[in-house]
Order: sequence, then structure tokens, then C-alpha cells
Amino acid sequence: MQKLAIQGGSRLNGEVRISGAKNAALPILCASLLTSEPLQLANVPDLNDVATMRKLLQQMGISIEVNGGQVVLSAAHIDKLEAPYDMVKTMRAAILVLGPLVARFGEARVSLPGGCAIGSRPVDLHIKGLQTMGAEIHIEHGYIHAKAKRLKGARIFFDLVSVTGTENLMMAATLADGVTVLENAAREPEVVDLAHCLIAMGARIDGVGSDTITITGVKKLHGTSHRIMPDRIESGTFLVAATATGGSIALTDTRADILDNVLEKLQEAGATIQVSGSTISLQMNKRPKAVNVRTAPYPAFPTDMQAQFMAMNCIAEGSAMVVETIFENRFMHVQELRRLGAQIDVEGNTAVIRGCAQLEGAAIMATDLRASACLIIAGLVAQGETIIDRIYHLDRGYEHIEAKLSQLGADIRRLK
Ligand code: UD1
Repeated sequence: MQKLAIQGGSRLNGEVRISGAKNAALPILCASLLTSEPLQLANVPDLNDVATMRKLLQQMGISIEVNGGQVVLSAAHIDKLEAPYDMVKTMRAAILVLGPLVARFGEARVSLPGGCAIGSRPVDLHIKGLQTMGAEIHIEHGYIHAKAKRLKGARIFFDLVSVTGTENLMMAATLADGVTVLENAAREPEVVDLAHCLIAMGARIDGVGSDTITITGVKKLHGTSHRIMPDRIESGTFLVAATATGGSIALTDTRADILDNVLEKLQEAGATIQVSGSTISLQMNKRPKAVNVRTAPYPAFPTDMQAQFMAMNCIAEGSAMVVETIFENRFMHVQELRRLGAQIDVEGNTAVIRGCAQLEGAAIMATDLRASACLIIAGLVAQGETIIDRIYHLDRGYEHIEAKLSQLGADIRRLK
């Protein structure tokens, strides 16, 4: 199993290009199922999750051409309306084929995702939404089997804000008969990016970026070309790493407008931030101050940045409280950070971190995608060598991370 070896103590300095967003690319790849015409995508990141999604779509019969970040998908012919367990269990986002398949082909068999490291993460809202739109759904042998001659527009209220739930039902509603209103919908920028792609494909969608999205179904969608938005979580991760190491970096091809909350927190920690067009520059020349964080749906602080801020708080001046309100088991990195000497107490969904002057390198283990990023940041600031095991989580969601960090001056190597 591959590991990362990090020699702590280098400040991050220099410029790095931000990749396309994983969480926008995954639903947008699935949107190709909604039309028989080619969908041309640009800025698709080179990630394991993207490769898994491509494989799943290819297994269904979609033809895919890849040329770097350019991907052309054609779902002119589909021979299998199924997402098997071995794919859904490695990548929950595979559930995103459910809505498009039922909408265009009237049927889908998608494995239930089962548990995952950061909580039970059910898909009941996806299922209930499709039922409200008239789909007949049976759960059999661990699979969701959905059927509908043509989905019907409906009013759907989400009890909880769900990002992929909103995306799945929004895609399904584009081809439904009549008007669908999604209430308490997710406002994440990735939902907006998907909506822009769907609109370019001929979908009629209003209220994008608000908590009420109205979709008027059309008979057919057509092909288009779309550029995937920049990854705000990758951007945030590099900015936290630079703040924690006391560095000076510039991120290019990114967007500051979707990072408001994260940028504010980094300024509170003491970083100086400048934005010029699609470039974000950050300077930090002192020990960071501890900052409190409370995760919540967009536009509040993202749960996908919680672990990275926890790492920074471990070496910050003062104490901070980190509250996780989205996932019930997203503190698995705490145990590993403690192995580096971090002072963290956890009570329910709240972690209290007392900043210490120095962490010490040790052997640790990545438990999920964002926890891996957190452990890298901790390794960068720790004294001596940190070895991170199980980094396959990292390759699911960060494009060429060790190459990018090396480019910024980090001493980081992959051990094969
Ligand atoms: C997406 C992101 C993930 C991010 C998360 C929250 C993608 C591919 N992944 O995941 O990176 O951490 O949003 O911002 O975009 N829930 C239910 N029933 C459902 C659906 C969700 O109870 O049917 C619960 C979940 O268990 C969780 C909360 O709702 O507690 C939010 O989950 P959700 O927004 O659906 O997360 P994902 O879309 O899976």
C-alpha cells in the first residue's frame, strides 16, 4: 500500500494551479446520461473518483474519449441501466446515475451505498424524491430498483439539505412531465455548476443557487460543451497549508467568491489575502491564531474543510472549538493528530483543540479523503518525519497533490 513521507518544517511558497472541482465533475459526468448527443467537458480533474465514474458510465455503454482534462461523453446507446455494488461502495457519488437513468430510460438498478467512514450517509431523500415524482421503487438484494414510464413534476421538500440529493432530483426533473419545485435545496456552487451545464443542454431551471429550485421538464436535452468550475476545497486546502506553515502562495485558476467563509477564517487566523481576478494570494509570517469553526450547508463553513482547519488549530496560538453539524462521525483524524502530539478533546460533535507550539512527526493513517489532507498539513508543520498510510483516499479527490506541494517547496515523497 502506498504511503506519503513528509519531512516537516518547510514553508509553502510559490504558485499553483487549482484543478477542476471533483464534486462538480462527478454529477456533470452523470448528466451525459440525459442526452443521446455528445457532452464535451473541459477542466475535468485527473482523480480516482473521476476514473471510477468514467468506468461506471462505460460499463453502461457510454462512449468516452479522454484527452487530458477534455472529456467527451456520448450516451447515444446504453445497454445496462445498472450501477453495481463494487463501484457504489468505493464511491458514493455513483448514486448520481439514478435520477438521470430513470428520467431518460424509465428504469435503473443502483446499489445501495452502505456505510462509509464518515457516517451512515443514507440515500433516503434521493429515493423519496423520485417516488414523489411517480417512480415505483423496490429495494431488493441491496439494490434500488426504480421504474417510471415518465417522471412527473412534483413539489419536493428536503428535510435535510443534501448536495447529491438535490443534484440527482434536479437532473431527473429536467426530463419529467411538468414542473418540479425542490425546496430546502442545496445551494453549493457545485449544484450551480451542474445547473449551468444542464441549462446549456436545454433544461429549464430557475432559482439556481437559492434554496428553491424550479425545473420545468422538457422532452429532450441536447449536447453542449461545459468547463468544470475550480475546486474550492482543493483551493482551501492549499490556503490552510500555507497559513499553517507560515508561507506565501498564489493559487491560479480559482474563485474567491465561493470561498468567502474560508477566507474570512484564514484572515482571522492572521493571514493576509489578496484577490485579483482568478488568483488568490496569501501571505502569513507568524504563528496562526486559533479559529472556531462550525460546519453547515453552503454558504456556511464547508464540512469538507473542517479537518484541515483542525490541523491548523493544533499548532495555533490559543484554543478553538470545531463543531461538525453535517456528518456524525467526521472526527476520525483526531486520533491520528493526537499521535503527533495534538491536544484535542472531543465531546459529541464538538472538538476542543488547545494549540501547542510544535507537533512531532510519527506514523499515522488516513481514514477518509479530507482527513488525509488534514494529516498532510499536520505533517508539514510537525518536527521530523511523518509517514501517512492509506493514502488511496487522497488520490480519490486531490489531483497530483504531492507534485503540487513539492512545487511549493514541501519535502514530500510517495513511498511505493
Ligand atoms: C456531498 C459532497 C461531499 C460533502 C457533502 C456535504 C459530493 C460528491 N460529495 O456529499 O464532499 O462532504 O456533500 O457538503 O458532492 N442525508 C440523509 N439522507 C439522504 C442524503 C443525505 O440523511 O438521502 C444526510 C447525510 O447523511 C448527511 C447530510 O444529509 O448527514 C448531508 O449529506 P449530503 O449533502 O447528501 O452529502 P453528499 O451529497 O453525499
